[in-house]
Amino acid sequence: MKILVIGSGGREHTLVWKIAQSPDVKKIYCAPGNAGISELADCVSIDAADIKGLLKFAAGKHIDLTVVGPEVPLSLGIVDLFKSKGLKIFGPSQKAAEIESSKIFSKYLMEKYKIPTAKYESFDVYDRAEEYVKSISAPLVVKADGLAAGKGAIVCFTKEEALASLNKLMVQRIFGQAGAKVVIEEYLAGEEVSVLAFTDGTNIVSLIPAQDHKPILDGDKGPNTGGMGAYAPAVFVDDKMFETIRKNILEPTIKGMALEERPYRGVLYAGLIMTRQGPKVIEFNCRFGDPETQVILPLIKSDIVPFLNACAEGDIKDLKLGLSAQFAVCVVLASGGYPNEYEKGKKIFGLDKNFGSSVFNFHAGTKKVNDDCLTNGGRVLGVTALGNNIKQAINRAYSAVGKIAFDGAYYRKDIGYKAL
Ligand code: AMP
Ligand code: GLY
Repeated sequence: MKILVIGSGGREHTLVWKIAQSPDVKKIYCAPGNAGISELADCVSIDAADIKGLLKFAAGKHIDLTVVGPEVPLSLGIVDLFKSKGLKIFGPSQKAAEIESSKIFSKYLMEKYKIPTAKYESFDVYDRAEEYVKSISAPLVVKADGLAAGKGAIVCFTKEEALASLNKLMVQRIFGQAGAKVVIEEYLAGEEVSVLAFTDGTNIVSLIPAQDHKPILDGDKGPNTGGMGAYAPAVFVDDKMFETIRKNILEPTIKGMALEERPYRGVLYAGLIMTRQGPKVIEFNCRFGDPETQVILPLIKSDIVPFLNACAEGDIKDLKLGLSAQFAVCVVLASGGYPNEYEKGKKIFGLDKNFGSSVFNFHAGTKKVNDDCLTNGGRVLGVTALGNNIKQAINRAYSAVGKIAFDGAYYRKDIGYKAL
């Protein structure tokens, strides 16, 4: 098979790394890719949002399967476009991707199909939203309806913060049209867990639950980022809880999407808070998580290409997913300043050292210039290690991090500690 992976982050490097292990795969392309991906795939400089350019490339190269990493091309309808031209592609249709690209749609779905989630109201008129915020008590969460690169949900601990956030979203439109409508929801206290599942629209194969670390600082302090590290399996989900999540969340969601005539194919990401009343959904994503993928895929023993193929077309009913009993930890190395302004183009040292067979340096914002590997984004590397227990995985990951350096490199020192 010839496979095209779309995207350029740590998630896509991990996907390419896993796909490259398949005996069925002869050639991998990645658009646009990064320095790490270029060691395993031919990188082509087409932007992930240029869905027409991607179609032209895939048709011209006779790509057998396209795998979409980020949400933006999915929300632009890349799957519908590829399928209309007879090209096989892994991911949900534009209408199904609304489970992520419209918070209002995802709340409607959860309400209708009784999927546990935070209580909420939605608004498209600022004055009404303002009135509502004044009538309830903090803490609460203000969310832009549309896509905002992971920054559209603002947790507000006071009414003043909530009013200011509402103003930023609906009046100042800091995220453009994405903030024209908002969801205002109840704040849920508890540990956050990400549960991902492959689905063909009917059948579900769940992956190992993972825990992301979103805030920039140790101890979950400071502003949220795209994710500063992850570990799996998440300790807050035992077998019984996993069954509850499957029965009360994943199954009704997939059934609901089919009943809404938006059959969901691809990978579904449920972002959960483990509340005292049980797991509740705070968001759905229509794609693999980043950095969750960096810890989930190394724990899959099976070839994932048959799953990607069957989710795209056909069914996954008879496929068995072989899982490792190990633990995985991913520590993200970020550019100094991230998630605010940061500099790019710093030379990365140490990647050529010996890391052993339990460590994988998944690249995110990197690029190759001559023989140098330079930083090229906020999140630069996802240093991932396997271990027979969480402690061993943590130690291996941090010992690998110690071998890598670039000017301004920043990372959290407590990734995975919640599991100890
Ligand atoms: P989202 O973009 O919806 O994933 O939200 C970003 C982050 O905000 C989440 O990872 C949570 O940490 C936090 N968050 C979102 N919704 C809630 C909620 N209802 N209660 C508490 N925290 C939330
Ligand atoms: N790690 C959070 C996300 O992928 O949305």
